[in-house]
Formats: sequence, structure tokens, C-alpha cells
Amino acid sequence: MQLPYSEPYRIKMVEPIYKSTMEQRKQWIKEAHYNLFNLKSDQVYIDLLTDSGTGAMSDRQWAEIMLGDESYAGSRSFQKLEAAVKDITGYRFFIPTHQGRAAENVLFSAMVKEGDIIPGNSHFDTTKGHIEFRKGTAIDCTIDEAFDTDLYHPFKGNIDLKKLKKVFDENPIEKIPFAVLTVTCNTAGGQPVSMQNIKEVSALCKSYGVPLYFDAARYAENCYFIKEREAAYKDKSIKDIAAELFSYGDGMTMSAKKDGLVNMGGFIALNDEEVYRTAITFNIMYEGFITYGGMSGRAMGALAVGLYEALDYDYLASRITQVQYLGEKMAEFGVPVQKPIGGHAVYLDANKFVPTIPREEYRAQALAVELYIVAGVRGVEIGTILADRDPVTRENRYPELELVRLAIPRRTYTHNHMEYLAAALHRIYDTRNEAKNGYRIVWEAPIMRHFTVKLEKIE
Ligand code: F0G
Repeated sequence: MQLPYSEPYRIKMVEPIYKSTMEQRKQWIKEAHYNLFNLKSDQVYIDLLTDSGTGAMSDRQWAEIMLGDESYAGSRSFQKLEAAVKDITGYRFFIPTHQGRAAENVLFSAMVKEGDIIPGNSHFDTTKGHIEFRKGTAIDCTIDEAFDTDLYHPFKGNIDLKKLKKVFDENPIEKIPFAVLTVTCNTAGGQPVSMQNIKEVSALCKSYGVPLYFDAARYAENCYFIKEREAAYKDKSIKDIAAELFSYGDGMTMSAKKDGLVNMGGFIALNDEEVYRTAITFNIMYEGFITYGGMSGRAMGALAVGLYEALDYDYLASRITQVQYLGEKMAEFGVPVQKPIGGHAVYLDANKFVPTIPREEYRAQALAVELYIVAGVRGVEIGTILADRDPVTRENRYPELELVRLAIPRRTYTHNHMEYLAAALHRIYDTRNEAKNGYRIVWEAPIMRHFTVKLEKIE
């Protein structure tokens, strides 16, 4: 008999979390204008808003905190991090930033101009935001299979090569400064991209002279899926798989708050010296000197260690098995979830869960609010509110998928928490037909509205 996967670590420190009542939560969410971002963390029992910067560091990472060198320029901590990034990615140049979107800001300042087109696989919202802010256009070339939540496809983050080629053929190539491949693809449901697809995308980009950059926030989880699902990689180490993955691109932006296993941090790594030279000036303006870029020395040290820990097979197996366990348990109860279960999160399919709530009333948001009220669990809407308005017509963009993401922080919650979550969803699913009304927006920001939107319940 094969023994089940269990965590390759034990707990040395605990953080108490508060269990509130349903009456309290009804009041709090109303005060928060039905926007889960507005809740105080103490009003949340299990916080699945994001897996970004919410994980637990290891004893070795905490030891690095004490070893941090806080020199402004050329610190030992910077050197440790630079060595780790170059060792893992193989890229020639490295620029630290304070988080992932800061890396996008710095790199895109150097590379994106008005009228540019950046194709990719369901760009993350800050990526798209940084493109649209510069009056560029992000074109989604994800395979159609990604939008059918019931369909099994091992690599739903893949790019459709025909769609990508069409973008290359139908636009002046000098308007396409690069293509971006997000591994794993968060917006498509934490779905991985296959090495085969990465290779093909890379070859197509090369044939048109278009550089390829990775949004590598969850690259280690992507490498785990490649090892598990692509036969040629089953005997390769995660680190070797990562090295091959990066070798097909020209550079990357990284939110280290995910697969860097730290609470704050990010970076750019790349091969093009000219882009590097331009980008470092923006880094100094926006982030800080080129040897810290918004991170403290101790944070860089902890990241240098975290990057290696995230490549450990046993860690990745226990992490992804935990997410899968939760998703499969919910599916057993009939709860409609995106399949296969992604790397960092379980995605509830609100179109199937609460079709009784009109799309114009933000059904995924309505489901996320209900989960908070019933169980004190905070997820996040990945639907119409997140999709924002069309920058030209200002009309709501209705994405094909209306999802609620339950992102699991790394090394943070236990198996019992997963049981609790599955039971809470089971309860909501049993009463789903009673849900009729959603929400209307009473205030929104002109861009990236989902963080600050104010909503009102439609009675
Ligand atoms: N790229 C991807 C794929 C992401 O998921 C994120 C952040 C970023 C870039 C930006 O990185 O937050 O460090 O500035 N995703 C978080 C999330 C916020 O909840 O999925 P950041």
C-alpha cells in the first residue's frame, strides 16, 4: 500500500485566528461595502484571498533574516539573491524589485510604448493594467479548452499557436515588443503550461523576432505539473525542468510572494543587455538602488533561501496535493469547480453554481460574499468585476468564466482547515437555489476597480 503524501515539515510557531459568528460577519461585510478586500483580517477565519505573500517562511529563512546585510549598495544579501536567481534561471542580468507588479512596471517602462501589442495567455490583471496604462493592448491567446471548466486538459494554461501566429501576422511586428507567458496561468485557473507548448511558443516567437518573457510568479508549481504530466520529464529534477523552461525565454518578471516563499519581494531577470541598461534607470526611479530595489537586505536573504525551498519536490507535492484534495472533496459534493484543480487555488464556477443570479449582478462576487457570511472564509472574485471595463467603450467586459478563487497560502493551513472549507461549500451548494439577487456597483475606480469597488445588495 502506498502511503499518502504528508507535509515535509512540522510546525514550530502558531498564530491564533478568530472564529466569529454569522451575525458579526453580516454586519462586517455590509460595512465593507460587500468588497472582501475591505475586511480587516481579524474578521476573517480562513483567509484564501490570495496565496501571495501569505505563506509561512521556514526556520532557515528566518535565520537569514538575522544575517541580513542592510548596506545600501552591494550588500551580501543582494549577492546571495543574485547568485540564486542566476543559478536557477540562467539569465545574465538580475534586477530586484519590491514585488511582481513593480517588476512589470520597471520592465514595461523600458519596453512598452503607446500602440504596442503584447500577446500572452490570459495576462494577470496587473500585467494587463501596466500594458493598458501605457496605452498598449494585451491580446489573450490561451487555448479554448481553458474556458470549459468541466473539460479535462492537463495544460489549460497553454497558448494556442494559431491565435499567436495570427497576432504576429496581422500586426506590424515592430509593434510587438514581446510576448508574455504566465506559468502557471493564474487567470485561467492556476493552470500549467506544458514544456512542449513553451518550446513551440518560443520557436514561433523566435521566427518572428519577438522576445518571450515569462511571468514566473508560480513557475515552480508549473514545473511540478510538467514533471507529473509530461512523460519526458518524469525523471528530471524540478530544478532541471525550471532551467529548461527559462532557457526558452529571454527573461522574466517574478512576484517572489508566490514561488519565492517570502512575504514581500520580486525581481526581473533577463538576457538583453540593452533592455537591462534602460530598465535599471527606471528601477532607481521607482524601486530603489539596483542592489536592493525596494527590498531590505534581510528580505533578499530570505528570498535566496525560499527560491530553493520552492524547488523541493516533496514540498511541491504536499502543497499541490493539499490544493487538489480540497478541490476533489468539493467536487465529490457536487460543487462545480474548475477541472483539473490548479496549482495554487480551487476555482468555483459561479456560472454553474448560481446561474439564478443575473450576470449583470456579479454572480461570482455574490457567491464569494455568501461564503464569507456562512463560514468566515475570504476568497476573491475572478469575474466581471475583476475584468473591468473596456478601456475604449467603458462597457463592462463579461469574461467567459465567472469564478471565485480560493487561493491556498503555502505551508499555512492544515488538513482540518481543508475539511472545514469543503463542508462549508457543501452547505452553500445545498441552498444555492435560494440565491436570486446579486449586487450593484455604487462606486468604482477607473482602472483595477476590484480592489476598491463599493457594492450594494439588490433587495
Ligand atoms: N503575475 C501573476 C501571475 C500574479 O498572480 C501576480 C499577483 C502578479 C503577477 C503581480 O505580483 O502581487 O507581487 O505585484 N497575484 C496576486 C494574486 C496578487 O492574488 O494572485 P505582485
